[in-house]
Amino acid sequence: MDYFHSHSKGIIAILSLLLIHLAYVATAAFNVTSIPFNRGFSPLFGDGNVVRSSDDKSVSLVLNQYTGSGFKSSDLYNHGFFSARIKLPSEYTAGIVVAFYTTNGDIFQKTHDELDFEFLGNIRGKRWRFQTNVYGNGSGGREERYYLWFDPSKEFHRYSILWTNKSIIFSIDEVPIREIQSDAMAGGFPSKPMSLYATIWDASNWATSGGKYKVDYKYAPFVAEFNNLALHGCAVDPIQEVLATTCSQKDDQLENSNYARVTPKQRRAMKKFRQSHMYYSYCYDTIRYSTPLPECVIDPVERRHFKDTGRSNFNERHHRHSKRRSHVPSMRNYGDQDED
Ligand SMILES: *[C@@H]1O[C@H](CO)[C@@H](O)[C@H](O)[C@H]1NC(C)=O
Ligand SMILES: *[C@@H]1O[C@H](CO)[C@@H](O)[C@H](O)[C@H]1NC(C)=O
Ligand SMILES: *[C@@H]1O[C@H](CO)[C@@H](O)[C@H](O)[C@H]1NC(C)=O
Repeated sequence: MDYFHSHSKGIIAILSLLLIHLAYVATAAFNVTSIPFNRGFSPLFGDGNVVRSSDDKSVSLVLNQYTGSGFKSSDLYNHGFFSARIKLPSEYTAGIVVAFYTTNGDIFQKTHDELDFEFLGNIRGKRWRFQTNVYGNGSGGREERYYLWFDPSKEFHRYSILWTNKSIIFSIDEVPIREIQSDAMAGGFPSKPMSLYATIWDASNWATSGGKYKVDYKYAPFVAEFNNLALHGCAVDPIQEVLATTCSQKDDQLENSNYARVTPKQRRAMKKFRQSHMYYSYCYDTIRYSTPLPECVIDPVERRHFKDTGRSNFNERHHRHSKRRSHVPSMRNYGDQDED
């Protein structure tokens, strides 16, 4: 009886895992045209550690004891869809950050715009965590942190940043995970052309549990692989920025593309992801922001899952609902791991 019981419980757990997986994958694939590295990119630093495949369709960024590495798009884009399939380093990755982001910080030092995916390395056997952040006109502080629902070091997954004049959407595969409307951010909405960057670097002093775990070069080299690189948008010369009226056609294309439309199904997947995998949000961090920033959409039900520090109380939720909440099975093991 007990044997049977534990078995059927296991099967139910597996079935609910499958269901949550299906909720994330059963959406139409993005229509993305990839380009080879030399058509849109150049090395940024650690050139010897930017390793391109012979067909130039994929590129690896290597971190070893001498240097990290990075690449950037050769052009700046006035709005765009920036996307790549990425596989993160496996094994022991504490202290390592892999970043995939757009910025114009080298041109506009005081009023820069930036849209970030930052993957935060981890000690062996623990899940990768990541954060997204948004800067507009020089002001940031809009971090959200999450767990992934898969192991990003096992297979390639597509990570995308869409930036139109209406909204910003971060997505993973075809699941939108964060959306910001431009009218909510008003003058703070990113408005100046940005380049796409990808980097791997040693962030021992903060990346993993607030710097508790450092990069261990015994496990080097650390390799992040990129392919299916996509840059859809209006390439502009920053000097001629004011003349960039020619972008309206590209803007229309962007706004009408399938990755700019969030279907009801995708919206449900986003909500589910945010309810079960987001463990920090600046919108719920009332210690930092006594009044939430204007783009924050405060959901009163969601609000109860966060402490004043903006941290989710996953652990408490788990203990209370451990019987019903089998669809987030490992959260209990990981919820207390990030201590910064
Ligand atoms: C995909 O994009 C290409 C190029 O932008 C376009 O020609 C094609 O019609 C699109 N296909 C679909 C199914 O939207
Ligand atoms: C951007 O920031 C600068 C400097 O802080 C400020 O002067 C300017 O008004 C801001 N622009 C917008 C559109 O809010
Ligand atoms: C966004 O772009 C479209 C197409 O170019 C344009 O018609 C519209 O005025 C723009 N909206 C804003 C708020 O800039």
